[in-house]
Amino acid sequence: MDRPNVGVAVVGLLVAVAATLPAPSWQQQAPNKLISCPSGSGKGFDKWVVMNQEEYVEKKALHTMATADEIGGNKLDANLTSAEDGKVTWVIDPKGKESDTTFTTITAALEKVPEGNNKRVILDLKPGTEFREKIFLNLSKPFITFKSDPMNPAVIAWNDTAATRGKDGKPVGTVGSTTVAIESDYFMAHGVVFKNDAPLAKPGAEGGQAVALRLFGTKAAIYNCTIDGGQDTLYDHKGLHYIKDSLIRGSVDFIFGFGRSYYDGCTILSVTKEVSVLTAQQRSKTIEGALESGFSFMNCSIGGEGQIYLGRAWGESSRVVYLYTDMSKEVVPVGWDGWNIAKPESSGIYYGEFKCTGPGSDAKKRVGWALDLTEDQAKPFMGTHYIYGDSWILPPPDADAE
Ligand SMILES: *[C@@H]1O[C@H](CO)[C@@H](O)[C@H](O)[C@H]1NC(C)=O
Ligand SMILES: *[C@@H]1O[C@H](CO)[C@@H](O)[C@H](O)[C@H]1NC(C)=O
Ligand SMILES: *[C@@H]1O[C@H](CO)[C@@H](O)[C@H](O)[C@H]1NC(C)=O
Ligand SMILES: *[C@@H]1O[C@H](CO)[C@@H](O)[C@H](O)[C@H]1NC(C)=O
Ligand SMILES: *[C@@H]1O[C@H](CO)[C@@H](O)[C@H](O)[C@H]1NC(C)=O
Repeated sequence: MDRPNVGVAVVGLLVAVAATLPAPSWQQQAPNKLISCPSGSGKGFDKWVVMNQEEYVEKKALHTMATADEIGGNKLDANLTSAEDGKVTWVIDPKGKESDTTFTTITAALEKVPEGNNKRVILDLKPGTEFREKIFLNLSKPFITFKSDPMNPAVIAWNDTAATRGKDGKPVGTVGSTTVAIESDYFMAHGVVFKNDAPLAKPGAEGGQAVALRLFGTKAAIYNCTIDGGQDTLYDHKGLHYIKDSLIRGSVDFIFGFGRSYYDGCTILSVTKEVSVLTAQQRSKTIEGALESGFSFMNCSIGGEGQIYLGRAWGESSRVVYLYTDMSKEVVPVGWDGWNIAKPESSGIYYGEFKCTGPGSDAKKRVGWALDLTEDQAKPFMGTHYIYGDSWILPPPDADAE
């Protein structure tokens, strides 16, 4: 990713927005210090880039996002079809009797999934149970489903933050703070609460990022789930994602990353009384595959506390649209923020709204470079075709089937 231009103009911009937007947590210096020390003004941002993107350097190939051609357009995904034909269900119950198909922890069940797994494995999480586990699903284990009951969901919770010390004594960082990390493809969840219950960080506090769910695999579908946290709740990291009828709660940059994702019928709530930033979508010309990325919110509702920004740009081509979405009065009139981007009007940022409703939706008061979309402009984002869904989106497993 390009280093931001931290010339005088940008320093001025930072000062101007500082009155309303919290300094990002990685920006430790106060704005007035930025002016007196211009050579160091990029430090906080650079630090954040290092924290969040060092993997890109290590595993560059992994970050390439498949294009429509590679995915096969709307042809049904043959790998997925065969995986569904052989599906099995395992029960996860802390009080259950362990067997080949019953486990007391999610971690134990995932260890049993073979590498290169090619059959759908549904983990039936006992409704109403809290699983205090930190989960990492390796990319070698695709086709995993977490299923519980939307009316009485299982909760998966942990409480690490970016500042939590790992085994090596160093802070684990944003990625490492994640409660449930999914790196494999074809993940599904239905009726589950993903939670990071670390105490809510003060806006701008160092190391306050506390991810509840990180989606790094492609073709993931999340139904009737709750993704619950504060700063940086949902790391929509990479890949094609379908998030439906779910509740997402957070404070600063709480849906972020370079996923190409469709949020359908979701409720999105700010949990801070101060400034809240709903998205930090990352799209950049300099990260392989990132130009394919962007978040589309359809038929969602936005509310909660504080002053809510719809998004701020992580990368010079950040892309977010809201369609038919209800916005409460807490959504600030300007709507969007360019963050570190010097010329948001010409950088490639794509922020738009289409037929949104509610007191926070008045597109006329938005920053000049945000778009009030026409129907033709909105159409590419309106429907699961945006995430090539015809080839891979399946309905949630029937909650009453087993
Ligand atoms: C299907 O699986 C094979 C072998 O794992 C892989 O090479 C191929 O890319 C997969 N196809 C899709 C569409 O993911
Ligand atoms: C994923 O599993 C493979 C095979 O066991 C292993 O080599 C790799 O280190 C694992 N990845 C992570 C990030 O743990
Ligand atoms: C799950 O989603 C469906 C819509 O697909 C909705 O009718 C239902 O109320 C949801 N259930 C819960 C418990 O949120
Ligand atoms: C995290 O949760 C554990 C209990 O699971 C608790 O002992 C610990 O104090 C919590 N840490 C913080 C920082 O809240
Ligand atoms: C929009 O969401 C509501 C539930 O919040 C649902 O009843 C309605 O069918 C959805 N409309 C469309 C067009 O998807």
